Amino acid sequence: MSLADSPPLPGAPFFAYRDGELWVEDVPVAQLAREHGTPLFVYSLAALRAAAGAWQQALAGRDAQVCYALKANSTLAIVQALARAGCGADIVSGGELARALRAGVPPQRIVFSGVGKTRAEMRAALEASIGCFNVESVGELDVLDAVARELGVQAPVSLRVNPDVDARTHPYISTGLRDNKFGIPHDEARAAYRHAARLPGLRIIGIDCHIGSQITAVEPYLDALERVLDLVEAIEADGIALHHLDLGGGLGIDYRGETPPSPQALVGALLARLDARGHGRRRVLFEPGRSLVGNAGICVTEVLYAKPSATKNFLVVDAAMNDLPRPAMYDAYHAIAPVQPRTDTPTQTWDVVGPVCESGDWLGRDRELAAQPGDLLAVGSAGAYCMSMASHYNTRGKAAEVLVSGARAQLIRARETVADLWQQERALALD
Ligand code: LLP
Repeated sequence: MSLADSPPLPGAPFFAYRDGELWVEDVPVAQLAREHGTPLFVYSLAALRAAAGAWQQALAGRDAQVCYALKANSTLAIVQALARAGCGADIVSGGELARALRAGVPPQRIVFSGVGKTRAEMRAALEASIGCFNVESVGELDVLDAVARELGVQAPVSLRVNPDVDARTHPYISTGLRDNKFGIPHDEARAAYRHAARLPGLRIIGIDCHIGSQITAVEPYLDALERVLDLVEAIEADGIALHHLDLGGGLGIDYRGETPPSPQALVGALLARLDARGHGRRRVLFEPGRSLVGNAGICVTEVLYAKPSATKNFLVVDAAMNDLPRPAMYDAYHAIAPVQPRTDTPTQTWDVVGPVCESGDWLGRDRELAAQPGDLLAVGSAGAYCMSMASHYNTRGKAAEVLVSGARAQLIRARETVADLWQQERALALD
């Protein structure tokens, strides 16, 4: 197979072939794999900065804040890089709160989403003086009110409303439909705001929605915006001022030739609609995750075995569903490309699978690849929802992570050892 025939890998120009092999910025990927072993996540700092810059530029001149959704990738150095690029944080747990603070995100730029915040998590977030709680139910309003009053403070809140629009994405990552566990139903939101306004421990500052993830069109966002603005007008008519509008995250990326709108196109369309409806001066927030980090990372894996057979050919690699859970969980597609494409081996159709003892442990199906044991493969679009969803299944330690900037590379997470895995376990002491 020639280089020209190599399957494309998203993330150009930060991940690109040069002199017959894959580079990340100015470092050959194979060199990093030699140094740090595989499976190895490799990120490009320039790609992270470019993605953050695209969002910031789209919002330039507006009263706005981009809050990076940490769940996409909460590795400290990644969060630090985005915080330094001006991003705040969208968090969903006490753990993510601690990570955001540790990474230097200013507390005022943190919004706390999620349907199941505990009292302890609320307390920690109030003590840190975060910017806003995105509250998802009336029950949560009451608990937050009580916790804030115990601490003698007022909690800044926004209600997450469910606009009941179809984001036209995978059902597991669609969150804006009525029968979904997220948010307060559109037709109950006004009453919920009136209730919130009566609670002395709360200070209402905004409204928010998030309709799903990997969205590749502007229309679902515009539908949601219209529905949310109807509510804003009704709620403000009730005498409750809403300072900001948080339109969530969800912007998709190119995994396999998808053409999602750029942040510029998406934000431009939304701001134009806001202006047209007379809401141009309202503060706006976004909570992107995937579109900031997804195509800023790859996962490098080594081919262990080639298992051709009459009906199926399997390439067994050293990365697995515990490192890259998206194919098993969502039937998701990630591009897979050779790090050093070969010309001496015929291209064949392979299922690329991991060593985990599950039939669901596959990374790619029916891929045209020329590969042999010992070769390195790059799994594309691995910056989002890979390491952050990784597990220890089959007692596999989590992979190492490296961040590249120009010709320099830094290990940002050391490979886990088996001793790390059982550190919290105790030997049997009962007889
Ligand atoms: N805000 C809220 C309230 C969210 O629930 C999410 C994602 C985001 C922001 C960020 O969405 P993004 O911009 O990353 O699409 N594990 C799945 C994705 C789950 C998304 C959950 N919520 C996957 O691997 O595709």
